[in-house]
Amino acid sequence: MSSTNGNKVARDNYPTPVNTVEALISQLTLRPNDKFLEPCRGTKNIFDRIPLPEDQKYWAEIDEGVDYLSTSFEQQDVIITNPPFSLTIDFIRKSLSELAPDGTLAYLQRVNFLGSRCRVDFWAEVGFPNKTPVIVPRPRFVNGGSDSCEYMWMIWDRGNRFSEIPNGISHIISK
Ligand SMILES: C[S@@+](CC[C@H](N)C(=O)[O-])C[C@H]1O[C@@H](n2cnc3c(N)ncnc32)[C@H](O)[C@@H]1O
Repeated sequence: MSSTNGNKVARDNYPTPVNTVEALISQLTLRPNDKFLEPCRGTKNIFDRIPLPEDQKYWAEIDEGVDYLSTSFEQQDVIITNPPFSLTIDFIRKSLSELAPDGTLAYLQRVNFLGSRCRVDFWAEVGFPNKTPVIVPRPRFVNGGSDSCEYMWMIWDRGNRFSEIPNGISHIISK
């Protein structure tokens, strides 16, 4: 994620608000043996809320010395993150390549990430997420402030772990 108000934060370090994480996790049905990955866990707002045993949870975070893009992970069942905006394409490519055939991948992103001309080839290559719930109200990222963008969870739900979230565009309401 990145700021649109000019106040750039190093490495796009904008933690996902807890209410935004909880709204998503409340819709997630994990399987007992699922392996979970947070590719850039930051302050662990997502990582700490995944109700799996610690030995089934994997992570990367460049500030902790683990660069996701240069670290190999075994196949994962569930990957959820809010990536650094500037690296989103590289992160998605890698996550899809490490996702199990019946895995579930959820990335937080701006809605207008879908429409940019420069990403047309990228979307043709990887395929659109099948579920894109728009987050209501807009998450507030920077110092309690909000930018003017709408945000969504982009979900490739091959494993149907978000069975209550319909295919296509929907809303996901956070408190
Ligand atoms: C937008 S923040 C989100 C943090 C966390 N995923 C969350 O949802 O709260 C992006 C995070 O990506 C980390 N980061 C940036 N480049 C990275 C890389 N190549 N590998 C791993 N982490 C990276 C930043 O340090 C920061 O913690």
